[in-house]
Amino acid sequence: MSFTFQDFPVADDDLRSDVLAGLSACPKAIPPKYFYDERGCRLFEAICAQPEYALCRTERALMASRLPDIAAAVGPVDCIVEPGAGECSKVRLLLDALHPTHLVVLDIAGAPLAAAAQALVHAYPGLAVTALGMDFIRDLEAAAPCLPPGRRLIYYPGSSIGNFPPEAATALLARFRQLAGADGQLLIGFDLKKDPLLLHAAYNDAAGITAAFNLNLLERLNRELGADFNPSCFRHYAFYNPVAGRIEMHLVSLAEQDVNVAGQRFHFALGETLHTEHSYKFRCDEFSALAQTAGWALKAEWAHGGFAVQLYG
Ligand code: AVJ
Repeated sequence: MSFTFQDFPVADDDLRSDVLAGLSACPKAIPPKYFYDERGCRLFEAICAQPEYALCRTERALMASRLPDIAAAVGPVDCIVEPGAGECSKVRLLLDALHPTHLVVLDIAGAPLAAAAQALVHAYPGLAVTALGMDFIRDLEAAAPCLPPGRRLIYYPGSSIGNFPPEAATALLARFRQLAGADGQLLIGFDLKKDPLLLHAAYNDAAGITAAFNLNLLERLNRELGADFNPSCFRHYAFYNPVAGRIEMHLVSLAEQDVNVAGQRFHFALGETLHTEHSYKFRCDEFSALAQTAGWALKAEWAHGGFAVQLYG
């Protein structure tokens, strides 16, 4: 067994320049990847346990029940690569079914990733695990030298792809295509379009965990950029936009206020919004058209309970 951890530190400069640029834009926006500081990671895990947020549970059930089919369709694989692996819990089913020799996990939250990946080494003796603490949206290509030769499967579960507007999603899938290599495959999970009231509830859980997750972004900026946001002066506001086919998550200013961030002052009008996340929902045919544009050919698909998994080669 072997374990390698390599950190590609996400420079403070990136957070600072992305946040300053986002707060200077109109409408104001901050990329969702910055949700995931340590508390953000824990809050996301807590969201997955909320009764209204079925996404993670549905995907797990689908993967578990169709695992033999999925493994047969994927065929032999030497290396699984999982961008945004987080807790590294989802990939375990695939490790059990596909028995690759190598696992490479990538996540912007390097420290929790390293801990989770190390735990996998103990659970899967003989598996070589490489954990790369990196902002793969920016640095994906830097992972290429860390991949062993052989047949690769890129695993991108959890509807993470939903964070990207269509053109950006296509661009990321095309970069996955490059990383996978000519005989590489992609197994990707995404949330399906469904009753908008169900989607609305999933991002407005009664326990307020999604609201805390959204507002935690402001606390992170206060801590890491010396900002002075007052989180109680912002409202978590998430809704399904059926025209665009996405959940939009915002922090709406409850008052006219000024906020200082990294030495710069920003004005919020009463009711002005800071956009924090898009979460696109798809139909199966819609998604395969998008992936095809990125150079992937659909090989198989499994869908159940409002969630889909597709295999591409
Ligand atoms: C991890 C991006 C799939 O969009 O549903 C959960 C993140 N945001 N609740 C999603 C999230 C609010 C989640 N993804």
